[in-house]
Amino acid sequence: MSWQHRPRCDETPSWALLAAHHARAFQGPAAFDLRRAFAQDAQRVAAFSMDAPAVFADLSKNLIDREAQRLLNQLARDCGIQAHRDAMLRGERINTSEQRAVTHVHWRWALNSLAAPINQAQDAIDSIVNEVPTAAADLSAMLDCAEAVRADRAITDVVHIGIGGSDLGPRLVVQALQSSGHVNGPRLHFVANMDGHELAEALRGLRPCGTLFIVASKTFGTAETLRNAQSAREWFAAQGGVDVARHFVAVSANAAAATAFGAGRCLGFDEGVGGRFSLWSSIGLPIAIAVGRAGFLDLLAGARAMDAHFARAPIERNLPVQLALLDLWYRNFHGLHSRCVAPYHHGLRKLPAYLQQLEMESNGKGVDARGRTLVCASAPVTWGQAGSNGQHAFFQMLHQGSEVVPVEFVLVRAAAHELPGHQDKLLANALAQARALMLGHQGDSPERHFAGNRPSTVLLLPDLSPRSLGALLALYEHRTFALGSLWGINSFDQWGVELGKRHAGEIETALRTHTEDTALDPSTAGLLNRLRGS
Ligand code: F6P
Repeated sequence: MSWQHRPRCDETPSWALLAAHHARAFQGPAAFDLRRAFAQDAQRVAAFSMDAPAVFADLSKNLIDREAQRLLNQLARDCGIQAHRDAMLRGERINTSEQRAVTHVHWRWALNSLAAPINQAQDAIDSIVNEVPTAAADLSAMLDCAEAVRADRAITDVVHIGIGGSDLGPRLVVQALQSSGHVNGPRLHFVANMDGHELAEALRGLRPCGTLFIVASKTFGTAETLRNAQSAREWFAAQGGVDVARHFVAVSANAAAATAFGAGRCLGFDEGVGGRFSLWSSIGLPIAIAVGRAGFLDLLAGARAMDAHFARAPIERNLPVQLALLDLWYRNFHGLHSRCVAPYHHGLRKLPAYLQQLEMESNGKGVDARGRTLVCASAPVTWGQAGSNGQHAFFQMLHQGSEVVPVEFVLVRAAAHELPGHQDKLLANALAQARALMLGHQGDSPERHFAGNRPSTVLLLPDLSPRSLGALLALYEHRTFALGSLWGINSFDQWGVELGKRHAGEIETALRTHTEDTALDPSTAGLLNRLRGS
């Protein structure tokens, strides 16, 4: 089956079979119950759990039975998910609306020979072609730049300016590796929001001669980033800074615009790297500054191991595909509207925000890649917070609220600190929440009653190292692609963000110039008047 002519999930024979199975086994008085499922199937944990590189996944506490699992696996085959995946790895132009190849995976393989292989058998994917001839040179230049910054004793602080994919991935990785003790470079500050409070806070206490600014923007046309970069340059000059070229580095796929801004160096990458998939490319500069060349190569190696798993493991044991199928099962058959991500590690506190962009910007679409209106629901709302904090915020709703929300617990076995009495408590709390969601409790009053039968997944990492983190993030990327592929969506464009940007330009002009814009709707015009104080 060619990837261009793959059927959409709702056009396959398995779709109707899944609907019939759901109606038969998951609705009505004898509907599926997790407690009964475990009692009746001694092999349930084995059947619904699997190992992937650096990640063990226990899916057994989900609202799924073996027949649904069988039909979902068939659905993945019917949808030609393997052909689509291989087309991505071969560098075909699967981003059809922009006529581009999708190249983030290719960047992870560009310097393969420099990185220590995780495992020889895993360390090659036949279908990967050298789609980005410049990637190896661009990555080497980025790593050289990072090493030069780390070696430059005059630079004490690095301010990374970027938003969306040019912020969330690097920020998450740096935070994660910082909390697990892998960061040893200059202090890193991240600025994304156009709200000047964020930049002002980052600049407080900095000296221009000790500060390096990274301006990261794939397009070099994003309003927030350009505003912050401009303000940073003005601050630099006002504080007596000299040599803008030495103190500003740009990272962009638009070298001309970056050069026009006046940055001394511009680190490049190709258009095929989508913003939310870009941390593996030159956009990863702050990560490389934080952990050094070897740490960055380890991050890539972890991701490559997951790439090899995604490319090779059969559908039944392919973790990204299994998670995507479960997501589809919940969204389209159970009709669930959201999924909660609860990382039980302080270093992963940005994971929900990172996944919001990855999943909702990729798969929050209403038409398929051929422009046809989708007939089934697409991306649910992804939300969450680090545990155990979330337990004191929204877990009440997860246990007793009217909505069923599948929860994904992300656990890290080894702690990087030596404080006694924390890690066991933390992990015990995560497992306790998953167990309580499933088992429920027969309360002696309605308020104390927990219905139970609420679903959860556990993803377990051995530690929070560059390798395991690389594998985890590649897992999420492939899952997002696989789910979009089942839905027939192009997961690599984001036209939905454009309209608001256009309106913002017009409204800003009206606000600044105090002009009456008769084309504005009455609500916006009224609010503008209030903002102007008139
Ligand atoms: O939010 C829209 C978006 O285009 C994202 O896809 C992207 O990650 C972000 O803006 C930043 O874009 P750029 O890297 O071009 O500044």
